[in-house]
Amino acid sequence: MVRSDDGSFTAYSKEYNEHYHSTKDGALKESLLKHVKPALEIKKTQNEIKILDICFGLGLNTLTTLWYYDTHKLGNKLKIYSPEFDVELIDSLVHFRYPNEFTKYLPIIQALVEDGVYEDEYFFIELFRGDARGYIKKFADFFDVVYQDAFSPAVNPVLWTQEYFADIAKAIKDDGVLTTYSTALKTRLALHYNGFEVYLNTGDGFRNATVASLIPLKTFQKVDMEHKITCNPDMEPLRD
Ligand SMILES: C[S@@+](CC[C@H](N)C(=O)[O-])C[C@H]1O[C@@H](n2cnc3c(N)ncnc32)[C@H](O)[C@@H]1O
Repeated sequence: MVRSDDGSFTAYSKEYNEHYHSTKDGALKESLLKHVKPALEIKKTQNEIKILDICFGLGLNTLTTLWYYDTHKLGNKLKIYSPEFDVELIDSLVHFRYPNEFTKYLPIIQALVEDGVYEDEYFFIELFRGDARGYIKKFADFFDVVYQDAFSPAVNPVLWTQEYFADIAKAIKDDGVLTTYSTALKTRLALHYNGFEVYLNTGDGFRNATVASLIPLKTFQKVDMEHKITCNPDMEPLRD
């Protein structure tokens, strides 16, 4: 466990040689500002919101989603689906030091660790123990939101390829939104070649991030991908 700059804890993975969250932006802040807030601000008026959380990791994106939902009294049904293949990590989560705001959700973490699923009147959450690439192929035209929060393309390339985003494009609804911390041109190209419009998520107190959608978004500044391609003719997206 490592304390990040906003005071919340993240972890460091020896296997991937990376932290689970940006220690500079702060784990909680990164989750809130790069994923949860931009996605839920677009989707909050829907009766039901289905979210794909790639991947569960420490569960911060999922828990921040519940917290945002409660603090903004959203009232719709939230369904979160999250794959994670590190079963040792999952089993250790009952001992993780989550922010105080999340104390009320600890029974949910316990249920997910023990049963892989949690449901009440407002939330349905599935924590799938296994590979994300196989998991996402089960869905078509299903998700309203995708949090793309794998380790970086440099160390976890299979979750950033053009073919991977082709499966995501099938799994997401036509008006779905994808959020990611990555601003790499290779990532944006992989999204662009699968029909996503690419937008800049920028603001005070966090480094730039990306929002993508199959349909135009009004509230974000669009990235001119044709111009980027002209300026970087040799750049290619990652491939399987
Ligand atoms: C950056 S962490 C995710 C952080 C998480 N979103 C959170 O808020 O705590 C990336 C996670 O992806 C998992 N992972 C990497 N490749 C995977 C794959 N192919 N299938 C399932 N999980 C994978 C890793 O074990 C790690 O827990």
